[in-house]
Amino acid sequence: MQNYSIRILTNIDIKAVTALHKASFEKSWPESEMRGHIQNDRALGCFTNDTIDEALIGFILVRQVYDQAEILTLAVSEPYRRAGIARALLKQLETDVLKGTVKALFLEVAEDNPAAIKLYKSQGFEAIGRRPGYYRRKDGRVAALNFAKRL
Ligand SMILES: CC(C)(COP(=O)(O)OP(=O)(O)OC[C@H]1O[C@@H](n2cnc3c(N)ncnc32)[C@H](O)[C@@H]1OP(=O)(O)O)[C@@H](O)C(=O)NCCC(=O)NCCS
Repeated sequence: MQNYSIRILTNIDIKAVTALHKASFEKSWPESEMRGHIQNDRALGCFTNDTIDEALIGFILVRQVYDQAEILTLAVSEPYRRAGIARALLKQLETDVLKGTVKALFLEVAEDNPAAIKLYKSQGFEAIGRRPGYYRRKDGRVAALNFAKRL
């Protein structure tokens, strides 16, 4: 049985989203930037189903411009990974949030992130390009792969 639920993120979630992003990526985003994405863009969060104190365990941020959209970031809390939460967030994004208004969904993923690449491929995204040296790492730079999906 599902023990989590997905809903649109609001201002009350900014701190939790910033913290989960920080725990998930080498480069963190400041709270002010996160606030902008949550207020201006499309954002979904996945929460544990605890009636007293729900906890954020995953989120996806998306920017839509006319009939195209871009996934800005996606993360799932480490102890909750490999349970289908990222897949569920992507599905709900497509079927509820973007349905009827978006024709194509784009994203960029680091070439050294096999988990995310496998996830996107398994969800119907196709590789459309590569940007060498796009991401900075502590020990050098790594390429970005561009993916797209027609909705
Ligand atoms: C990538 C990430 C979002 C996946 O979240 P998740 O909830 O664990 O993913 P799901 O359980 O929905 O996995 C769906 C499918 O993606 C693939 N996948 C996900 N994680 C994987 C891993 N570690 N290794 C191999 N395949 C993986 C599998 O095909 C999986 O299906 P399966 O479990 O039936 O084999 C998560 O690992 C994460 O937050 N990583 C750090 C942040 C990040 O890299 N975000 C993506 C930026 S582009």
